Amino acid sequence: MTFAGKRYDFRDQAGDYAQLAEELAGLLKGEQDFVANAANTSALIFDALPDLNWVGFYLLKQGELVVGPFQGKPACVRIALGKGVCGTAAVERKTLIVPDVDAFPGHIACDGASRSEIVVPLMKGQRLLGVLDLDSPRLTRFNEGDARGLERLASVFLESVRAEDIA
Ligand code: SME
Repeated sequence: MTFAGKRYDFRDQAGDYAQLAEELAGLLKGEQDFVANAANTSALIFDALPDLNWVGFYLLKQGELVVGPFQGKPACVRIALGKGVCGTAAVERKTLIVPDVDAFPGHIACDGASRSEIVVPLMKGQRLLGVLDLDSPRLTRFNEGDARGLERLASVFLESVRAEDIA
């Protein structure tokens, strides 16, 4: 397989996220392996979205978030529920946009280049599986359109996997 990612400029943000969701569905089609699909999802997003320095998964294991497949610099491994942006979004079960990470009390700095962040909780039915986390070196990188677009990508990923595969 050769992957030739389509270039998106996000001037039509909703349209580009819709196309990206289709691209992701095609990429994951026929595969249910959790790690494989999480790895390809993070790689596709990292390749397609401008101004990112980190994209990846934190997975809920034995009551804490543990880093999963990602793109970017090595990251903190474990985050307690309720801590940092990831732990807060996980507990609140809602997408969290942080325009300036330095202004978020309790932000956990992994890559010092990160200036803004968005975290999307991953729910399979009523079960919280973890979060999808994106960091940007640019302040106020993420808006509500990104939140809706990334939630759509997260749901394409969630439809592709079996929750039993993470423990
Ligand atoms: N900043 C996150 C920690 C994870 S890294 O950004 C990869 C947080 O505050 O939860």
